[in-house]
Amino acid sequence: MKWTLITAFLAALIAIAFTIAPEKPDFIPFSDNNDAESETTVRFVGGDNNTMLTGHWNLPSKSDGEAPPVILLAHGLGLIQGKSLSPFVSAFQEAGYAVVTFDYATFGQSDGLPRHQIHPTNHVADIQAAIAMINEEGTKRGVDASRIGLWGTSLGGGHVLMAAINSDPSIRAVISQVPHIASALETIIVGMMNLPVTTGKSVVKYLAGLLKWSVSKVVLRKESYFPIVGEPGSAALMQNPGDTAGYLGILNPGGEVSGGWKNAATTESGMHILFYRPLSSLSRVNLPVLLIAVENDTLCPAKFVQAAKERIKNAELFVFPNLGHFDIYDGEPLKTMLSKQIDFFNKYLH
Ligand SMILES: *[C@@H]1O[C@H](CO)[C@@H](O)[C@H](O)[C@H]1NC(C)=O
Ligand SMILES: *[C@@H]1O[C@H](CO)[C@@H](O)[C@H](O)[C@H]1NC(C)=O
Repeated sequence: MKWTLITAFLAALIAIAFTIAPEKPDFIPFSDNNDAESETTVRFVGGDNNTMLTGHWNLPSKSDGEAPPVILLAHGLGLIQGKSLSPFVSAFQEAGYAVVTFDYATFGQSDGLPRHQIHPTNHVADIQAAIAMINEEGTKRGVDASRIGLWGTSLGGGHVLMAAINSDPSIRAVISQVPHIASALETIIVGMMNLPVTTGKSVVKYLAGLLKWSVSKVVLRKESYFPIVGEPGSAALMQNPGDTAGYLGILNPGGEVSGGWKNAATTESGMHILFYRPLSSLSRVNLPVLLIAVENDTLCPAKFVQAAKERIKNAELFVFPNLGHFDIYDGEPLKTMLSKQIDFFNKYLH
């Protein structure tokens, strides 16, 4: 009797989990959505020494005859190179820098399965692999690979700080904008205190997703997915009011999302970012760092960026008042920020 009840209870729990957890999206195989290969394209081995990643070289628009320094761009959670990085690429190119973009393994034009696996340690290893690629290809591309600047936004802002620890001597300076510094768990706890009902709902859906994932993985040997961005109270990894519009606005300004991208990350991704906490390692960063924060950031709160500044020996912090996480990617804030970033790289990469 007791076991029947327990079995029925578990079956019901799993059935509920499968009903409320998100569906697996249909990914277009990455081999079908690669941009036409061009001379700017570079394929290189990623941080796992196995997966092939795709990057792009963007040479400076003007040259003074000297081989230009290189800036490597590291993107945010679930984002892919292309349009969303182009304001940064063009600004740095116009300022005389070569700019390299790439996709983390399992994203965009890079290989790797399951698709859309957000895995901070692997992402950081991919950044290191991109640095190795720049060192290897530098001469051929006519750049000065002994002067590299790292730039990262949001989750990538945390990654470039991690990549700066014991880094290759070619790395001279780091810019980390609206960075992920504390773990997602800490942000959820803040959310629980501010919006207990909505946050509670999403935690239940999240747990259902985890249960579905464990059954899918063990019994059915299938991946399961969470939405990357969604409405408050959903199972999405990012779900503050305004996140959906802000995020999709960055991903493909003014249009439909291209490149086979889907609003989904493996369920495992959620667990990785839940405990990813660059803050604990930042006293080991010895390079000059420019931190950019926004006062009203609910995803990557400014108080954690302030804490990062206190741990890093040589860090400058600039905080934009009255802006949210997604407000720095266009208009006046973007202009102001780019001019600070270019001044900073000019100081350390020349
Ligand atoms: C990849 O290769 C490098 C150099 O041989 C090694 O240091 C590193 O640990 C390897 N990484 C993995 C994930 O196997
Ligand atoms: C941003 O935060 C400050 C300080 O908490 C607050 O005074 C201000 O009204 C907020 N601005 C917006 C746009 O939410």
